Amino acid sequence: MIAIGCDHGGYTLKEAIKAHLDERGIAYKDFGTYSEESVDYPVYAKKVADAVVSGECEKGLLFCGTGIGISIAANKVKGVRCACCSDYFSAKYTRMHNDANILAMGGRVVGPGLAAELVDVFLDTPYEGGRHAKRVSQIADLEK
Ligand code: RB5
Repeated sequence: MIAIGCDHGGYTLKEAIKAHLDERGIAYKDFGTYSEESVDYPVYAKKVADAVVSGECEKGLLFCGTGIGISIAANKVKGVRCACCSDYFSAKYTRMHNDANILAMGGRVVGPGLAAELVDVFLDTPYEGGRHAKRVSQIADLEK
């Protein structure tokens, strides 16, 4: 199960990605927002972050205008490693090296075609572990 959420700036892209996940047969839980009416992105960042760190959902996808605000907010939740990406390489390597558990994207930055590719590579790429495990554990230490 994938947790998804957005603010008004990411709403259209979130809907496009829901259609893409439907096509791929990937189950998701939509934590809102559910329209283009103005809302505050930290609220939706927290809903998705909580779903991921609790184990209710295995990964999360977040969308705001830039992808930045909602990623900053999500990263305040202990256990979240959220990467804001607008290129394929970063979306792939943040899984391989950082074990990122949430991908954030900007609805005013990336189009739906690129976003679908970023989502696919993020969801399909495993964490490498190995030499990266020490560094990921050092990130967790910063939360103490
Ligand atoms: C909302 O206008 C906008 O600030 C928000 O979607 C996001 O881009 C913040 O980082």
